[in-house]
Amino acid sequence: MKILAIESSCDETAAAVVENGKSALSNVVASQVEEHKIYGGVVPEIASRRHVEAISGVVKSALEDAGCALGDIDAVAVTHAPGLIGALLVGVNYAKSISMASGIPLVPVHHLRSHIAANYLTHPELEPPFLSLVVSGGHSHIVEVLDYTKFRIVGRTRDDAAGEAMDKAARAMGLPYPGGLNLDRAAADGDPCAYKMPHPRVDGAPYDFSFSGLKTAALNTINSVRQKGGEISIPDLGASYIAAVVGCLIENTERAAVNLGYKKLVLAGGVSANSVLRREAEAMCKRRGMSLYAPELRYCGDNGAMVGAQGYYEFLAGNTADMSLNAYATMSIE
Ligand code: KG4
Ligand code: ZN
Repeated sequence: MKILAIESSCDETAAAVVENGKSALSNVVASQVEEHKIYGGVVPEIASRRHVEAISGVVKSALEDAGCALGDIDAVAVTHAPGLIGALLVGVNYAKSISMASGIPLVPVHHLRSHIAANYLTHPELEPPFLSLVVSGGHSHIVEVLDYTKFRIVGRTRDDAAGEAMDKAARAMGLPYPGGLNLDRAAADGDPCAYKMPHPRVDGAPYDFSFSGLKTAALNTINSVRQKGGEISIPDLGASYIAAVVGCLIENTERAAVNLGYKKLVLAGGVSANSVLRREAEAMCKRRGMSLYAPELRYCGDNGAMVGAQGYYEFLAGNTADMSLNAYATMSIE
């Protein structure tokens, strides 16, 4: 079964053709990074307008790269939530037009479910149940993936998402957008013990996260060093900060995996590209006799292939939509 998949939840216009949920025949991503860089972050209206301009060409390229015509496609899957509403509406409307014109089924896909499904492309042998750490620009969740379309949130962030925490700290350190990636690079040779960072915990919620205090600690460190006329070492502060964020992510995930009895851990979302997170997750899984799965780097950030992977399982579960399908800025993964 071939699925044409469309993703436009944030600042990447993306489309792919995916076969049987496991194999990406094409994966085209038009990034708007250069334009948003000028503003230091994603400007929603600009994102929507660029999606409108790019989407036809991106979908055409995805079909061509896969060697397919629309007549070869069995269903069209699209991210309908959560994300920037104006951005989501572009993809949803485009997918609806294709479905209406060609008569193929329309499959709405939850963005975070698709981030998890990116792992089915990289690890075709992976099957639920497993525990997943989903860390993106807007969300940080520990999720039980009970089946391909059945999810239970175990822990969540009380304030900033992990990616947001990375982006805000990067900005405070003067690093350009996209912050998380540039922070990861800048910190590569830094000393993670150079600056003392707090280790925030949420009372009575052993799997929940709180990152806003960490961001404040980074800002305070920068200000107090500068007030004394000193200079911040960006590699050292970056490494100390990343170590603190990753320390919280791993600690709670390890606790959840042990308490709930999971032997498979799956990383998902843009932050799963982080080199320290991947390394520390690997070390933790080794210590606990668990298997670690992470998407290959090209499937960590937003892309169409992951939408096609999850779309396949949503289709099999009968989760299709009619022409009344709408987009939603927020929606639980459950
Ligand atoms: O999943 P994603 O591409 O978009 C959302 O659904 O939000 O995640 C984007 C987030 C951004 O906050 C970005 O800074 C972060 O992922 N990110 C990283 C790295 N690459 C992307 N954070 C840390 N290290 C990275 N290498
Ligand atoms: Zn995403």
